[in-house]
Amino acid sequence: EKEKELIRGSWEGLGKNKVPHGIIMFSRLFELDPALLNLFHYSTNCATTQDCLSSPEFLEHVTKVMLVIDAAVSHLDDLHTLEEFLLNLGSKHQAAGVHTQSFALVGESLLYMLQRSLAQGYTAALRQAWLNMYTIIVATMSRGWTK
Ligand code: HEM
Repeated sequence: EKEKELIRGSWEGLGKNKVPHGIIMFSRLFELDPALLNLFHYSTNCATTQDCLSSPEFLEHVTKVMLVIDAAVSHLDDLHTLEEFLLNLGSKHQAAGVHTQSFALVGESLLYMLQRSLAQGYTAALRQAWLNMYTIIVATMSRGWTK
């Protein structure tokens, strides 16, 4: 319950500004693994990472990711209701050529964004709470991989 409080409390502010926080997250992601940019078929339309991250298609994906996180935060008490959606989302990413290992980098980037945005509010307990929730999301998406 403490974990849920930490997540809800911190998302209250961040969730109101999804796009800018999502951009911080994806800037970090593409810094950690620039090759991920190429998985977006529309990445040919941009020269630099910052270019890409200001294009409408990329902003749309950033927004989609933030909305999935938003849904998870809203469903902390019944995350299983998102299971079908997340399984399907996983299989869509398999089709897009995203490897499950790359999702760990998204998690790292999420924590990076939280640290930057929450500053002194970013505590070890808060970090662990977010990591636990994100791990459930990714585990479900990864189960969506058709073997
Ligand atoms: C769709 C790439 C992580 C949520 C897509 C698409 C690509 C993609 C290429 C299809 C084209 C598009 O809609 O833009 C990636 C890469 C990731 C990543 C490279 C990082 C490794 C995530 C994560 C989430 C997410 C972590 C959510 C937690 C979505 C959603 C869609 C999508 C909601 C739309 C699916 C649909 O069409 O129904 N992603 N993605 N993505 N992605 Fe990601």
